[in-house]
Amino acid sequence: SERTLVLVKPDGVSRGLVGEVISRIERKGLKLAALELRVVDRATAEQHYAEHDGKPFYNDLVEFITGGPLVALVVEGTRAIPAFRQLAGGTDPVEKATPGTIRGDFGLEVQFNLVHGSDSPESAEREVKLWFPNL
Ligand code: GTP
Ligand code: MG
Repeated sequence: SERTLVLVKPDGVSRGLVGEVISRIERKGLKLAALELRVVDRATAEQHYAEHDGKPFYNDLVEFITGGPLVALVVEGTRAIPAFRQLAGGTDPVEKATPGTIRGDFGLEVQFNLVHGSDSPESAEREVKLWFPNL
């Protein structure tokens, strides 16, 4: 069993898709280990997306993720990291994500792709510590 950090980004919250995302996680057979609605500060957002520092979309990404409430979750289960990435679909909701995935079913734009999921065991460990230091 492993843990992954999932975010329902501010676009997912404002569009009322929190229940939809959580429902898909649960129906997949994954378990919720932590869940919180919060507005994230700039420092945390910058640490979360540190790997993208310097890229042309980095500032917009940090502004967007800090711009409204999001839902942060720790999701647990067998192969939880790739399993949630499968549920999310590819980064670009139209070019990469396929129908049946969260991004493929509900997204149109790369920046507004609704969810985040850790992309490796190393990222998951770092991100779970960043978002839920007491877990
Ligand atoms: P996350 O789970 O959010 O990390 O998405 P990802 O792992 O599928 O993609 P990646 O880590 O490469 O990019 C992080 C986030 O930056 C994406 O989810 C997008 O919201 C945003 N992003 C990535 N590439 C672009 C881009 O070319 N343009 C814009 N505007 N945003 C991008
Ligand atoms: Mg990523």
